Amino acid sequence: MTAGDEIEPVGAGEIVRVELGARSYDILIGPALTERAGEEIAKRLPESNALVVTDRNVAKHHLEPLAESLSAAGIAFNSTIIEPGEASKGFSTLERVVDAILTGRLERGDVVVAHGGGVIGDLAGFATGITRRGMNLVQLPTSLLAQVDSSVGGKTGINTSHGKNLVGLFLQPQLVVADTSVLDTLPARHFRAGYAEIAKYGLINNPDFFAWLEGHWREVFVGGSSRQRAIAVSCATKAVIVAADERETGQRALLNLGHTFGHALEAATGYSDRLIHGEAIAIGMVMAAEYSSTRGHCPADVPTAIQAHFYNVGLPTSLSQIPGGTPTSEKLMELIAQDKKVTRGRLNFILLRAIGEAFIARDVAADDIATFLAGQPAA
Ligand code: GLY
Repeated sequence: MTAGDEIEPVGAGEIVRVELGARSYDILIGPALTERAGEEIAKRLPESNALVVTDRNVAKHHLEPLAESLSAAGIAFNSTIIEPGEASKGFSTLERVVDAILTGRLERGDVVVAHGGGVIGDLAGFATGITRRGMNLVQLPTSLLAQVDSSVGGKTGINTSHGKNLVGLFLQPQLVVADTSVLDTLPARHFRAGYAEIAKYGLINNPDFFAWLEGHWREVFVGGSSRQRAIAVSCATKAVIVAADERETGQRALLNLGHTFGHALEAATGYSDRLIHGEAIAIGMVMAAEYSSTRGHCPADVPTAIQAHFYNVGLPTSLSQIPGGTPTSEKLMELIAQDKKVTRGRLNFILLRAIGEAFIARDVAADDIATFLAGQPAA
């Protein structure tokens, strides 16, 4: 699908369908959809009660319209408001959410509404999947990153002291409602970070979309129909990949473009404000492209074009731009080896043959990556 293709309209918005047989669902994308969420949930899950899981920041701006919409649709609900931030994605907050579901006497046929960014979606999704052996989940993502990535595709989970997302399950939601109006209150830095995941879809398999983004990114940042289009094309691209490989036994791994380097950078900077997820992925994608080029998989103008686009939108593109100092190549290599299984000195990587042509390289030499990292510019 290219940016110009038609997607079914929903009022002023669009619908992308994730085709997974009996577990298929719609992603609704458009302005002011929070106000319609109750009606859309009631249509798909009639007579359900709900628990809304959200965080303090999202609740301040957006809980009231959601509450009004649920009430108007006759959905009885409670809400649990947790602290914003990655620290909430752990066992103790999970227990709180599970407890809230059980205290609210929600049954298996009832619904948990995950109203927030990636932390809320992953945490509430996991609680939904394990409570009463699995209940219904609706995702109402409020960050750009969650709208184009984490709310779609069914990955849920929490972090442990051993690393991120190590405990979790696949649970597809019954519905995703991506209200593009809520992005107006998103800080610019977080919008840019989410944009990195949008550009990722162009790089994976959609060169026309990447070219369209190069020409239209300013409009995407401003809002309106271009922003909606970029989100819809991103979701549609992810939907096709997830439909073909729901549990990541093959091609779904393409969605991890930039994530091996990116995860190492996030770990090296302590998952702190120094480098937020999308920024780490932006640097990771440039590095994956540069590595692809040094190995002769793609011409040098591929990393140059990606770097130039991210530079234009204001994303970091190299290790030297990480505030507070550049992680050493040895440290990064150690973190990559922790994140990925290295078998006899080889590991899997997502690399590029061209813009819009990512592939899974199954036999990359760890030594080669170490040499590549050692050649990266320091601050
Ligand atoms: N964010 C990668 C995936 O959903 O598979």
